[in-house]
Order: sequence, then structure tokens, then C-alpha cells
Amino acid sequence: WVLLVTAQTPTNIAVIKYWGKRDESLILPINDSISVTLDPAHLCTTTTVSVSPSFDQDRMWLNGKCRRFPFPGGRFQRCLKEIRARASDVEDEKKGIKITKKDWENLHLHISSYNNFPTAAGLASSAAGLACLVFSLAKLMNVKEDLGQLSAIARQGSGSACRSLYGGFVKWIMGKNDDGSDSIAVQLADEKHWDELVIVIAVVSSRQKETSSTSGMRETVETSMLIKHRAKEVVPKRIVEMEEAIKNRDFPSFAHLACADSNQIIGCVEKWNRSEESPQVAYTFDAGPNAVMIARNRKVAALLLQRLLFHFPPNADTDLNSYVIGDKSI
Ligand code: DP6
Repeated sequence: WVLLVTAQTPTNIAVIKYWGKRDESLILPINDSISVTLDPAHLCTTTTVSVSPSFDQDRMWLNGKCRRFPFPGGRFQRCLKEIRARASDVEDEKKGIKITKKDWENLHLHISSYNNFPTAAGLASSAAGLACLVFSLAKLMNVKEDLGQLSAIARQGSGSACRSLYGGFVKWIMGKNDDGSDSIAVQLADEKHWDELVIVIAVVSSRQKETSSTSGMRETVETSMLIKHRAKEVVPKRIVEMEEAIKNRDFPSFAHLACADSNQIIGCVEKWNRSEESPQVAYTFDAGPNAVMIARNRKVAALLLQRLLFHFPPNADTDLNSYVIGDKSI
């Protein structure tokens, strides 16, 4: 027999960023962060995990290519270990499947993961990937933990992954405990709360980013004089204001805060927002060069696409929750 589980997890885009760790091995951040989870139809990871007594070793495929298993760095193994420690019995009489908690220690896994967007190009592929892995393994191994507890496990694979277990607007609470047990993600509002928003992602490069978030953050924490000030003074205030903006669907405040928290400026968005009575578009960048733009409604999104593409794509008005432009391979 083979027992398998397939799950699909969207990526998330931070509007108040996680940048910097207080514990590198447990992945504990120096500040809270808030993100928007994208529509799974557009940017997501699909992972199938399977187990069978006939598997003679653990194997993993990423986008169809066989990968060395286990990965170096220990993050993946840590997630697997945490999930295994919480595994329960699984029984399916019809199929003749009976796995006890103890069996999970010796059974081998086959894991196949596929991203429908560029991997490691700054589009939070690790977020979708690790969240999906943890979620699918938890289902396979009949783990009874709730999403908050699973988010603390996904966090140990990649910080931003803890936020991808929920849809809508999500906050990663940095927590205070040394063991990271209170560093979990919570949902602030579900995907229906503010469904006017349209997220447009301009993929200007699908090449792997030169600096990984992990090493970029490490360097910042080690060398930046401002990072402590950001974590202690700036972000806590922004988090409160952002939560308020999301609750009230207050786009001007949302746009102001998201743009302020992002580390780059797009001249055209700034110019456009200045030419209107109030802001129409917010933008934000993660660690790669790709821009994520959030339009306040469908009309503005259509105008934005017109400006970016010089023509309006067919049927965009009927299918415009999130829109990825610029990369034909997607
Ligand atoms: C800029 O979660 O990829 O996207 O925890 O080291 O795996 P590790 O880093 P990662 O960093 C994401 C950084 C960011 C901001 C954010 O998503 O909050």
C-alpha cells in the first residue's frame, strides 16, 4: 500500500516585514510582522507526501527534480522531527493500512513539491513550500495540533512560512519565550474581509536572488545601527496602525504603512499616488527585485495593468483577485 496526502499552500507577502532574528536556529524574529496571503490559484506550492512500507529510503523532488535528502542546514529535518514527534496512529481497514505512532520513526517518505512561480526569486517561495510541507506531513501523520501550533513548526523551516498557513491577513507574533512556543501566526482577518484589494505582482526577474533572506538579515542584524531602533520603536507602532487599517479597510493608512515599511521606492507609484486626492496603489518588495502592488479596487487595478502592460488583458475585470505579470513561464 501507499498512503498519500496532497496539499496546496499559497505564498504570502509581508506588508510589515520580518527582518532579523533573535535566534537563528529556532527562527525567532526581532519584531512582529503582518502579511497578506495570496489567492492559491496564482502563486502556490503543491506538495504530495507519501509513505509506504516498500519505500527503501526518503526521497524528495522539487519542481520535478530529485533533490538530495536530507537538505543541509537542518531546517527541513527539524520540521520533520517536530511533526514525527506528534504523529498518531493511522488505520484504514479497507486498504489494510495500520501505522502506529512508533512505526513513523522507521517508515520512509517520498515528498514531491511543485511551485507554480519562480523559486527563491524573492516571492516567498520558502514560505509556501515549508508551510505546505508541514501541513501535508501533519495530515499524513495524523497530527492533532491546531494551525497555531503547526505555524510554530513551519516557522522553524522558514520564518515567513508560519504566516502561509492562514488565508487573508496574518500576523506573526514574535513571542517572548526562549523555546519559541509563543512565536506563532494568527489570522487577523480572513480572505473575504477586504476582497476589493487586488494584488499585482510584476516579475521582473525569475532568477534566483543573489542574497538569501537568511544571510541578508544576518548581515543587517550584525552591521546595522538602525535595526534595533526599527525593531523596538518603529515596527511595534506600525503593527498597531496596520492592524487598525486592516480592520477598518482604511486604504490610505494601509498604503502609507506598507510603502513606508518596504525598503525601496517606485517612482511611478509615488507619482501616481501624489497626483490623486488619496493613494490608489501600495507597493512592497521582499528580498528580490519583484514588485508587489496592491490596488485599492478593481478599477484601479485595471488602470494599473493598463499602465504596466499598455493594454488591458482579456477578461481581467472578471478574474482579477491577483494578477502575475512579466514572466511567461508562470
Ligand atoms: C523580506 O522567511 O525567507 O520576505 O526565516 O531565514 O527563511 P528565513 O527567511 P524568510 O524571510 C522573509 C523576509 C521577507 C519579509 C517577510 O516575509 O516578512
